[in-house]
Amino acid sequence: MLNAQDATTSTPTIIRREDYIPPVYWIDSVDLTFDLDPAKTRVLNRMRIRRNPDVAAQPLRLHGDELNLARVLVNGGGTSFKMDGNQLVLENLPEGNEPVELEIFTTCAPIKNTKLMGLYVSQGTFFTQCEAEGFRRITYFLDRPDVMASYSVTLRADKSLYPVLLSNGNLVEQGELEGGRHFARWVDPHKKPSYLFALVAGNLVAREQKIKSRAGRDHLLQVFVRPGDLEKTEHAMNSLMASIAWDEARFGLSLDLDRFMIVATSDFNMGAMENKGLNVFNTKYVLASQSTATDTDYANIESVVGHEYFHNWTGNRVTCRDWFQLSLKEGLTVFRDQEFSMDMAASPSARAVKRIEDVRVLRTAQFPEDAGPMAHPVRPDSYIEINNFYTLTIYEKGAEVVRMQHNLVGRDGFAKGLALYFERHDGQAVTCDDFAQAMADANPGSELAQRLEQFKRWYSQAGTPHVHATGSYDAQARSYTLTLTQSCAPTPGQGEKLPFVIPVQTGLLNRNGQPLALRLQGESSPAAESRLLVLHEASQSFVFTDIDEQPVPSLLRGFSAPVVLESDTSDQDLLTLLAHDADAFNRWEAGQRLALGIALNAIADSTITTSAGGQIEARLLPPSFIEAMRGVLRHAELDAAFKELVLTLPGESYIAEQLEVVDPQRVHAVREAMRLQLATELQADWQWAWEAHHDTGAYRPDPLSAGRRALSGLALGMLCLAAQATGDEVWPGRTLQRFKDAGNMTDRVSALSALVNSGHPLAAKALARFHSQFQHDALVLDKWFALQAGACDRGGNVLPAVKQLMKHADFQIKNPNRARSLIFSYCSANPGAFHRADAAGYVFWSERVIELDAINPQVAARLVRALDRWKKLAEPYRTAAREAIARIAAKPELSNDVREVVTRALAAD
Ligand code: TRP
Ligand code: ZN
Repeated sequence: MLNAQDATTSTPTIIRREDYIPPVYWIDSVDLTFDLDPAKTRVLNRMRIRRNPDVAAQPLRLHGDELNLARVLVNGGGTSFKMDGNQLVLENLPEGNEPVELEIFTTCAPIKNTKLMGLYVSQGTFFTQCEAEGFRRITYFLDRPDVMASYSVTLRADKSLYPVLLSNGNLVEQGELEGGRHFARWVDPHKKPSYLFALVAGNLVAREQKIKSRAGRDHLLQVFVRPGDLEKTEHAMNSLMASIAWDEARFGLSLDLDRFMIVATSDFNMGAMENKGLNVFNTKYVLASQSTATDTDYANIESVVGHEYFHNWTGNRVTCRDWFQLSLKEGLTVFRDQEFSMDMAASPSARAVKRIEDVRVLRTAQFPEDAGPMAHPVRPDSYIEINNFYTLTIYEKGAEVVRMQHNLVGRDGFAKGLALYFERHDGQAVTCDDFAQAMADANPGSELAQRLEQFKRWYSQAGTPHVHATGSYDAQARSYTLTLTQSCAPTPGQGEKLPFVIPVQTGLLNRNGQPLALRLQGESSPAAESRLLVLHEASQSFVFTDIDEQPVPSLLRGFSAPVVLESDTSDQDLLTLLAHDADAFNRWEAGQRLALGIALNAIADSTITTSAGGQIEARLLPPSFIEAMRGVLRHAELDAAFKELVLTLPGESYIAEQLEVVDPQRVHAVREAMRLQLATELQADWQWAWEAHHDTGAYRPDPLSAGRRALSGLALGMLCLAAQATGDEVWPGRTLQRFKDAGNMTDRVSALSALVNSGHPLAAKALARFHSQFQHDALVLDKWFALQAGACDRGGNVLPAVKQLMKHADFQIKNPNRARSLIFSYCSANPGAFHRADAAGYVFWSERVIELDAINPQVAARLVRALDRWKKLAEPYRTAAREAIARIAAKPELSNDVREVVTRALAAD
């Protein structure tokens, strides 16, 4: 038997978008037969291939990875072939354009597959993950998304161990085999690229639901989980039914399959995967019960189930020509799942809450990516390892780029554009240009159509544009001139940036906070109270007329473009916006800007000193801010969920992003001082908020009651914090009681987190109780680890706790969820604890990267990103971080995944 594994670690190849050439062969059909065995699975792959007449004749090069090759037959007979690295090269295929039967027999070892790409075993069940390039770990193939084939699949396995055998499409045959084995044969009616192939085999049970579509077609929906988890699938099934109904109602897109299956696994590199008709999910995004899942979990399940379902059209029916076009499916599908969640939330304020949450993710995580060493355009130009490009830029910024198109053509125009996109491209593998072109063509005369080429710079230029706004009021002319100026800093490999097309949704308020009718110079009458201004030059002025007094501008409403807005808005104006803006997003934003301003001033003010224990005693929040926060907290009409967002200070990494040089301990101390002051000066109000909101009745994960739980949870945290400062024991005691009595996981975790983060000694007791109560539930144990690794640091106490937890019997580094819950919660989500003057956090980090890389490079490469922004750090952090990265880079045996990220991090040092 020939071992085709690539032993020579050659220098990694850079893949470039401009090098795209269509495939030399097409694969029309694939018939796969699997003899499933954890140690040695046999794969028989029979393909019908044909030369691509549009490409000059060349040998066929098939991708493979960690396969054992046993046999290659061409039209039923032997053939010569050679190996070139990982590729199987066939030089002597018959000439001419006749179809050729190619048969390849290989074996692989699923039980040894810790990368979780290709075919692997999780808790005794077989799963596959093929996106992006995992199919080549199952069989030799043209493993690229523009090769679309018809699949038929036969699965054979031991019947008692693997009673359920699943693959894409329809089950056409099943039966018994000798030796206690059985088989199932699946045929997928739709052509698909290899990355959408899936199989699952194991002992699973399913929640089933029959539905009839609007169009009258019958469908069977199934959610497969391990025996015992069935009661936790109701929310996922409801989310799936809601997704199907929503796509039909909003976009006229129906389910194109008789059967749609979701299967959950606890070992998964990402959130979920949209394999045609057989979505595979991380259990985290399927399983929920009120006693084990939080409101956030419920909301995430709804959005991820929606996301994967929506891929059935945006991704599967129309797919990507190459992986540079990844955002074509991901940006669009994230936009669709965001809209779905907003439509499900229904009330205008719940919609705004969802928008604020999405923007918060974008700004705290994608903006730093766009300003760091891994910055790349929404449509990248090159990569070494595609797995490293499943990024916030591709997903979240990509969704914003789609949202801007939506904003430029309007809701109906967008639906028309999407319809034209499917009319033109159904069944094809296309590019981001094709999408934008369809949007523009369906909306002739729109701002998008008029400036399409310029708009597409959002796909080609990396970096976050800054928009500087200045206003000047002319009392004589009764006019207000708003001047918007844009700029964008260079990113690696892109020095010059050309102006973007930036939609800026704008309103003006009078001093009392009332909206003004907006009439732009040259218009005969006012058009609306909110207008979409389109900035497309480096600098443009917009003149509003009939303005009787100096107005308060409300810019970038709803976060209409993914930019950093810089404006000279006074604190007084921000207070007006916070109290009155009709746009809920900007109302929240005004509060965040006020808090950010206070934090940045305090960080820079050398007269504000820290005590020996690292605390700042000074009162940083002025009375006006405290009063404004009290006003929001006590407001009679605002939703609890919105209040919780306003009363939460900007995060440490968001504050850090605004600084040229970051001292993470300074940022931590300042934010903690602000939080403590908010806790103590509003103590009576927090008490009121707790009392008014903590009883949420029978558990329902709807936005209204979830909002009440979020606000009462925040209140409890603040009350424990205040108690810690005054030595009061009443609130910690009550919090422990709440923790014990909680009727749902949201309340339980809020109480536990309030104790842990206030540093109260009762926390230890609560943690022990939580562990013994939930030790058999992996997803709840993940919360237990994450809570401790993410705890507010007091004198460097978190790292020793994390190291201790690494030795805990329940810690398993091979399980990505568990690794994320402990290691990532500490390194990537707890800056105050991670950035230590003694560099011990970085040492721990580099050791974990190296340890993980040998197991699962994809997960390891994500962990590397924790130090993306090392160049911004103040000393001694900067030098220590650089050394830690260099220590990783010095290892000769790194994966391409980790190698690419550390190389970029150290580049141009
Ligand atoms: N396409 C998946 C999504 O819905 C992403 C994904 C899931 C993935 N598993 C993966 C990407 C493994 C790379 C590797 O977003
Ligand atoms: Zn996706």
